[in-house]
Amino acid sequence: MALEGKKIVLGICGSISAYKAAELTRLFIKKNAEVQIIMTEEAKAFISPLTLSTLSKRPVLSHYYDKESGEWNNHVKIAAWADVLLIAPITAHTLGKLAHGLCDTLLEAVYLSCTCPVVLSPAMDLDMWKHAATQQNIQKLNHYGNFVIPPDRGELASGLSGEGRLPEPEKIRDFIKNIFLKTASFKGKKVLVTAGPTYEPLDPVRFIGNHSSGKMGYAIAKNLQKRGADVTLISGPTSLNPIDTVETLSVTTAEEMYKAVEKRFTKADITIMSAAVADYTPKVNADHKIKKEEASLSLELVKTKDILAEMGKRKKKNQLLIGFALETQNAIENAKAKLKRKNLDLIVLNTLEDEGAGFGYDTNQVTILDKEGEIQNFPIKSKDDVANDLLDILEKRL
Ligand code: CTP
Repeated sequence: MALEGKKIVLGICGSISAYKAAELTRLFIKKNAEVQIIMTEEAKAFISPLTLSTLSKRPVLSHYYDKESGEWNNHVKIAAWADVLLIAPITAHTLGKLAHGLCDTLLEAVYLSCTCPVVLSPAMDLDMWKHAATQQNIQKLNHYGNFVIPPDRGELASGLSGEGRLPEPEKIRDFIKNIFLKTASFKGKKVLVTAGPTYEPLDPVRFIGNHSSGKMGYAIAKNLQKRGADVTLISGPTSLNPIDTVETLSVTTAEEMYKAVEKRFTKADITIMSAAVADYTPKVNADHKIKKEEASLSLELVKTKDILAEMGKRKKKNQLLIGFALETQNAIENAKAKLKRKNLDLIVLNTLEDEGAGFGYDTNQVTILDKEGEIQNFPIKSKDDVANDLLDILEKRL
C-alpha cells in the first residue's frame, strides 16, 4: 500500500551492483509505483538502458538534453514530480559530487533540485567505503537530511570481503516503503526546536558561554524534517552546517532566544528545547573592552528568563512541550521535579556519567521521563539514534 501510486526517481551509477537495479525496478512496478530512471553514462557499461526502460515502462534519461532529438530534460520538473529520489547504487565518486554540490550530470542536478526525501544506497569496495573522504561525504550528506542505506557486508567484486555490497533489492524496496510510512508521521505538524549554547556578552570581545555543540538539537530537527514535520530551528552560535530545507534562525543571547521562541510558540504543535541556555547573564555589557586594571574583578550576573518554564505556563492542551535536563546529582528525582515544575510532557535527561556522552560528542546517553511517570533508559547511541528514540516516543503521543 505504501508504494502504490508513488513516483520514484531511481538514479543508477556505474557500479557492478547496478545489475540489481533491474530487479529493484521490477519490485517497485509490481507494487504499482511509477519509476523514472536516470542513469549516469558509466552505469550503461554495467546494465543496458533498454532493460531498464522496458521494466520501468518509461524512457531512461541520462543527459540534460537528448542529443538526437535535442529534447530538454527539465531537472526541476523531474525533481518536483518525485515523491522520493533513490540513488542505488551510488558510487564514491557521485557521493563526493553530491556532498559538494557539483552537478555536471542530469542526476546531480535533479538531486540538487529535489525537495522530496532522498535515499542514497552506496556500493563500492571495502577500502573505498572506509576511506576518510567517503565517510566524511556520507556524514555531510546525512547532515543535509538525506537518508543513507548502509552497505551490506559480504563478498565484493574485487575478491575482498567486507562492507560495501549493495543490499538486496527487497531490502532497498522495504527501506523506501518505510520512508513513506515514516515521512507521513509528523506531516502537518509545526515543530519548534532550540539548539546550541547562548553567549552572554561582557564587553565587545568577551562573553560567558558553554560547551554545547548544538549537535543534539540539529539531529532532532533533521530527523523531524525526515518524518515530514514543518521544523523551525532556533540555534545559538554553533559551527554546524545548516540543514537543507529546515528554517533556521540564528540567535546569540538567552534574551534573543526567548524572543524568537515566544514569537513562534503559539503556532507550534510541538516545542523541543534542547538548547543549553545560560541561566545567568552579566548585568552590564560594557561599551568598551574591560581593561585589566584591578587585581581582581567581580562580575554581577542576573538571572535570564527560563524560556522553557515560561512556555510551560502558556502551553495549551493540544501542544506538546519537551525539555532537556543535565543533572549531576539525584538525576531522576531532579528531572521528575523539573518536568512537573516546568509543565512538560517529556524530559530528556543527560547525566554526563558515560564516557563519550553529552557536550561536544557525537553520542549521547539519555533517560526519557514522561508526565505519566514512565521512565525509559537508553544505552549510549549516536545523537541521530537518540533523536529517533525521542521522536518514536513523541509519535505515539500525537
Ligand atoms: N532552559 C530554558 N531557559 C533557560 C534555562 C534553561 O529554556 N534560561 C531550558 C533548556 O533548554 C532545557 C532545560 O531548560 O530544556 C534545562 O534546564 P536546566 O538548565 O538543566 O535546569 P534549570 O531549570 O535551569 O535548573 P537547574 O539549573 O537548577 O538545574
